Amino acid sequence: MLIEPVFGKKFFGREEVLCTLQKRVAALKGGYRQNMALTGPMLAGKSSILRHFLDNVGDSEIIPLYIEMDGMDFRLFCMQFMAALLFRYLKSNGRTAHELLAELQKEAGPASKYDRESEFEALKKICGGMIPKTVNCMDAVLGLLKQRRTNAAYEKILELTSVFKTETDKNCIVILDEFHNLSNFKLRKPFQTFGKFIMVQKNTMYVVSSSQKTLLKEILSRKLSLLFGNFEIIEINGFDSRTARSFISDKIDRSEFLNDIKNYFIQISQGSPFYLEVFIKEFSDLILNVDAKENAVECLLEVFSRVLYDSNGVLNQYFMNNLNFFLEKKKRKNFIAVLVSLAKGNCTIKSIQKDLKKKDCDLGMKLQKLQDMDLLETSGGFYIISDKLFEYWLKYVYCLKEQSVIDDVDIKYLEFKKNIGHDYERYRVESRKDVKDIICDLFRAFDNSKVQVNMNLRKIPRFDVVESRSLSKNIVEIEGGLSTKKWICHLKQNDMADESDVGRLCDLKDRDKEFKIMRKILIPLEGIEQNAFLLAKEQNIWVWDIEFINRNLRFFGKFEIVL
Ligand SMILES: Nc1ncnc2c1ncn2[C@@H]1O[C@H](COP(=O)(O)OP(=O)(O)OP(=O)(O)O)[C@@H](O)[C@H]1O
Ligand SMILES: [Mg+2]
Repeated sequence: MLIEPVFGKKFFGREEVLCTLQKRVAALKGGYRQNMALTGPMLAGKSSILRHFLDNVGDSEIIPLYIEMDGMDFRLFCMQFMAALLFRYLKSNGRTAHELLAELQKEAGPASKYDRESEFEALKKICGGMIPKTVNCMDAVLGLLKQRRTNAAYEKILELTSVFKTETDKNCIVILDEFHNLSNFKLRKPFQTFGKFIMVQKNTMYVVSSSQKTLLKEILSRKLSLLFGNFEIIEINGFDSRTARSFISDKIDRSEFLNDIKNYFIQISQGSPFYLEVFIKEFSDLILNVDAKENAVECLLEVFSRVLYDSNGVLNQYFMNNLNFFLEKKKRKNFIAVLVSLAKGNCTIKSIQKDLKKKDCDLGMKLQKLQDMDLLETSGGFYIISDKLFEYWLKYVYCLKEQSVIDDVDIKYLEFKKNIGHDYERYRVESRKDVKDIICDLFRAFDNSKVQVNMNLRKIPRFDVVESRSLSKNIVEIEGGLSTKKWICHLKQNDMADESDVGRLCDLKDRDKEFKIMRKILIPLEGIEQNAFLLAKEQNIWVWDIEFINRNLRFFGKFEIVL
């Protein structure tokens, strides 16, 4: 299955990260270089962002180079790097794609006849008179490659953008997608060498990206340790719920009676544009011929059957491939048993152990390995499968197909539909609840276990009572009490939180010495102004955003809030 990045008209949302990238470009021109790293789960849309950015830099003084480092050898990497530099340079001089193609064909002959090498030679010929020093440096790279001196060629290619800058006064932005693959090139200390170069090259901005989150962070923090802090890391996750909703509405005409279904798609896919695209494509075809609400639910079940359950369903194949790709054949069975147990809702070592029915001394190691592969996330003693739809598929499809004792295709299919129908109904009931009640339920679920708050693990007590009261139209106070101690939380809805919201929490004093306020928390559902956030930090008030709330709702086996 070929899944390609989208750009141009198909590209949706992502304004915030594109804006940050543009700001860094402006800073680069002003003489301040900030390298960036994009990380996030598979198919979250990293390459699409990079491609879209590449096409929209729109400044002839900045030369962006994009290299997708997947499935290539070092020679090809060098060729693509150099060709991208020459091609983008020519484009920055005002040539259109048509003109460039015509020039290339004049030099190298018709496209059907030339190969990669002759295309590159043609580019070099066109540029030779304009940027001779850069082209000489490229020839040096080619010479070293020919002599099989790959390490020297690597250093030479890293020099290239500096030579180009001296010659043209243009800055380069080097975008390396799936950057972790640098380690496949059989170079001596590839990351350390990279680190050494980029530290001194203040005129070249690097944007690296990888879907292997843990590995990328490890590379940035350990292998490029000299530069820790020099890369600004941006995590790309699914669309937030509002963007996801407009992404869906753009693709379905008659969507007025589909709110529940849309929200169900959004929470199950965690806003992943790829999953949403697959669901909606199938759903919009089916819903065209349907009027009534009840039939819309039938459509939903049919879509899930087609894409998640059928053996040739896009997502069924995708998840099956992932299982095979990530897990070595020899050990696959044992790891899958752990994943399945997690998907069934067992989220502590103890409960997984119990579910597996035999003592597995390697369980801790397996959970760690699954985390290193970014398949699991942990918080305190809890584990969950990072990708919620993958969890859903393991639970409702994989388990049923692989582990059910009844070997009847029709019965399994009916069972599948019945189960997802129940899940949808459960969601509908839960989503009717008021947000404050959902958050109160979360407070009731805390059980003395540790929860990750601001990079630290913090114990949250089991409260004896949890109560809420409305302070104003937009603010609800939630109190969690245990004996004479209280945790007080203000939930701000409908509007961004500002300094007055933080001030209100600051002013709370221990009432009549009857109880002591142990902790103050602000939950700004619509975001928080920067100053207010800093003030809260200074006052030791915890700020829990919607991502935090949703993550913890998941850890406690509850549906997330779709705003
Ligand atoms: N901004 C977007 N607008 C519309 N669709 C998107 C967007 N981002 C991603 N998609 C959808 O998700 C798919 C995967 O996107 P993309 O290849 O950019 O993800 P990725 O994070 O680079 O994936 P990988 O982990 O495989 O590198 C696209 O084919 C498209 O269907
Ligand atoms: Mg990609």
